[in-house]
Amino acid sequence: MSEPKKLFIKTYGCQMNVYDSERMSEALGGQGYVETKTPDDADMILLNTCHIREKAAEKVYSELGRFKGLKAENPDLKIGVAGCVAQAEGEEIMRRQPLVDLVVGPQSYHRLPEMEAKTRAGEKALDTDFPEEDKFEKLKNRPKAKRGPTAFLTVQEGCDKFCAFCVVPYTRGAEVSRPADRIIREAHDLVERGVREITLLGQNVNAYHGAGPNGDMTLAGLIWELNKVDGLERIRFTTSHPNDMADDLIEAHGTCDKLMPYLHLPVQSGSDRILKRMNRSHTAESYLRLIERIRAARPDIVMSGDFIVGFPEETDEDFQATMDLVEEVKYGYAYSFKYSTRPGTPAAERAQVDPAAADERLQRLQALITRHQREIQDGMVGRTVRVLFEKPGRQPGQMVGKSEYLHSVHVRGAEIATGDLKKIRITESGANSLAGELL
Ligand code: 5AD
Ligand code: SF4
Repeated sequence: MSEPKKLFIKTYGCQMNVYDSERMSEALGGQGYVETKTPDDADMILLNTCHIREKAAEKVYSELGRFKGLKAENPDLKIGVAGCVAQAEGEEIMRRQPLVDLVVGPQSYHRLPEMEAKTRAGEKALDTDFPEEDKFEKLKNRPKAKRGPTAFLTVQEGCDKFCAFCVVPYTRGAEVSRPADRIIREAHDLVERGVREITLLGQNVNAYHGAGPNGDMTLAGLIWELNKVDGLERIRFTTSHPNDMADDLIEAHGTCDKLMPYLHLPVQSGSDRILKRMNRSHTAESYLRLIERIRAARPDIVMSGDFIVGFPEETDEDFQATMDLVEEVKYGYAYSFKYSTRPGTPAAERAQVDPAAADERLQRLQALITRHQREIQDGMVGRTVRVLFEKPGRQPGQMVGKSEYLHSVHVRGAEIATGDLKKIRITESGANSLAGELL
């Protein structure tokens, strides 16, 4: 048998890319590749790129430039670019960086094996189409290897919302949901391989409307189906849009025992004027009422969110409205970003906020969020939570896992194995995690 070829994948960005990289690795596994941890001895390097942050394409070009030496040493080395930068730049990547052999957009990963063969034949391979087929179904070449206790499962891709700042509708395309039976089959397969917690992924996950046995299913319908899977203990989902928070999904948070009390629900701004300019189609007030209803269904739910500060034309008053909203919601986690322009999006053409003012706002917002985050984390002390243990901790005899609220919890001196789900009494709240003892 010939030596396996080595594949090095570097993944940037969101959990969707993490999931996609796993699928690409499995697909190329069928071509005789095994993953390696360094680019130095690789036969193929794949950059799975993200386009959300500023100058994403420029960063990819400079990363690619660094592989020049490796390619000189090993002329058989193939270099590929996948993900959202591949989608956005397309052929331009090969023009600007001749080292690149392969460019594949997120909707074409199932074509990777053919594309790889093409590169081996000395040709360049490019595919950034949006084909009408379920790429994950076509990627079902997966070995039945054991897995850790948590996994991502993509149920929906793309977005039709066109927020004025965001590249996702352009790079990931229109909103598409996978059929429910395939997702449920994949969940069974994951559980057989040791998975106990599944996070359902989608850029607009709560817009899910995949084909089910009796017409389209909602995300809540899908969650209820997954709730029946024996051996699956926990279900999470991300990322949701406020306008797609349907009644059945809110209700599921109160009644579905495997659905975890944690919800990532980005609002982006607390100012109605800015929300309108962002094309968010909800108001601060409608968002707050929505959270009230979610909390009525599940009072202990931990909320998480995303914010953009310094969006074009944002005034001090607009920013204050964001601070007020955060004060009212009190997020357990929140991610805040300074607005940065994405060429081709509507907001890119507008008057930009003074960068120093935006920096100052970002700092104030982050300080407030951190304060709430701490308060919520500290409030866990004395409570009993259920922890799904994921790995050994840094100290000897220590295990780390996540509570239902997604807090990291460390436990020492107890017989706990990876994959165990245990009741833990929280004794301490540290900088970024909790400590507790086995009950
Ligand atoms: N500038 C700053 N932040 C952005 N995000 C998306 N696009 C931009 C942009 N152009 C943030 C949003 C989104 C998160 C994933 O990234 O808050 O929810
Ligand atoms: Fe981007 Fe999310 Fe808005 Fe869709 S809903 S355009 S993914 S920020």
